[in-house]
Amino acid sequence: MTTSRLWHGFTDMSTVRHRAPFTITRGQGAYLFDAEGRRYLDASAGLWFCNVGHGRAEIAEAAQRQMSRMAAYSTFGDYTNEPAEQLAARLAELSPTDGASVFFTSGGSDSIDSAIKLVRRFWLALGLPDRRVILSRENAYHGGHIGSTGIGGIALDREGFGELITDTARVAWDSAEDLEKTITSLGAERVAAFVMEPVIAAGGCLFPPQGYLQAVAEICRRHGIVLIADEVVTGFGRSGDWFASRRFGVVPDIIVCAKGLTSGYMPLGALIVGDRIAQPFYDGTAGPFFHGYTYSGHAGAAAVALATMDIIEREALAQNALSLETRLPDLMSPLTDHPMVQEVRTGQGLMAAVELNPQALRVTPGLPMAVVASMREAGVLTRSLVGGQIQFSPPLIIGNSQATEFVDAVLTGLNTIPPQRT
Ligand SMILES: Cc1ncc(COP(=O)(O)O)c(C=O)c1O
Repeated sequence: MTTSRLWHGFTDMSTVRHRAPFTITRGQGAYLFDAEGRRYLDASAGLWFCNVGHGRAEIAEAAQRQMSRMAAYSTFGDYTNEPAEQLAARLAELSPTDGASVFFTSGGSDSIDSAIKLVRRFWLALGLPDRRVILSRENAYHGGHIGSTGIGGIALDREGFGELITDTARVAWDSAEDLEKTITSLGAERVAAFVMEPVIAAGGCLFPPQGYLQAVAEICRRHGIVLIADEVVTGFGRSGDWFASRRFGVVPDIIVCAKGLTSGYMPLGALIVGDRIAQPFYDGTAGPFFHGYTYSGHAGAAAVALATMDIIEREALAQNALSLETRLPDLMSPLTDHPMVQEVRTGQGLMAAVELNPQALRVTPGLPMAVVASMREAGVLTRSLVGGQIQFSPPLIIGNSQATEFVDAVLTGLNTIPPQRT
């Protein structure tokens, strides 16, 4: 048993505590190094966050410059700071809606919970307090807070906590018709918002069916329902644009972001709120939004985000994701014929998943974990998703050779697993 006092998230500590810890000591570009100096490809960009890659001194320098002047102060009331102002203006400029306002948080779960509270207060301010139901998609992951867990589409995450949040409903992940049907059966006058990840990430890397995003946006608009795009994963170049919403020509009322916003160099999240939703709070009708976090508008984190966005822009990382997107099906094709592979899922942007054969998964439920462990031995770090898929979402700085390195490691992983009894 190790002497570590660190409790790991989403982890069975009864298994981890008996193992020697795996300590990452350094990162450079798309690679990480362990305590012995062994090099690993970061094939998941941490937890989908490290879009600009590791070891960027200019981000650390931006943090150092800001923090040695003033790391943080409250932004409640009329207090503000320059980096938070600059970042809000830059995010508003990128928003597909005119005149957006930006509300800062400390991460993705914070942002989703903030969005839920914001839309419920919005409808209250408009004199429609019955509009409380939050709709979301099956399989979606929206975070670990009470609200974001409660609207999540992964059943395992919700179990055992009692009732997390009232007035929610889930719709099929891939059917705009099901959204329409659910709204009709609940009554649109009860529905506050529809929350959706443009590409469902942790829930299995599920790309939207052709026309789905435009169709759900139209349904929401027609029923007056607030459309919340959870772009915590898809934002900041991952989807081949600053936001997947821009890429797909969808105009959400609220864009929720985190992760790639700072590439994980600091914890930070944001809501980019369209004018329609912000207006009652800005014209006095709604009164104050009684919500905010200690670190909302954290100056050091905002400086880090600005430096991260400079890199994404200067190095055209969204364009690199877009160009890799077209090459990924070819680069990953050596996996498609493997008997243990059901499907290699590619779609929009630099994200993909290797779905294992359901029969192999039935026979060996631990197969994805075994493949991931063997890939680590082969020098590639990633993880398996909830349905047993192997995640590929590297930093956006990679080229063909790193994609091939990933494919080779998956093959090594699959081929070192003893043949399955079927
Ligand atoms: C789509 C999505 N939304 C929200 C979250 C929650 O973000 P955080 O872990 O920063 O709270 C995540 C985290 O993985 C996510 O993937």
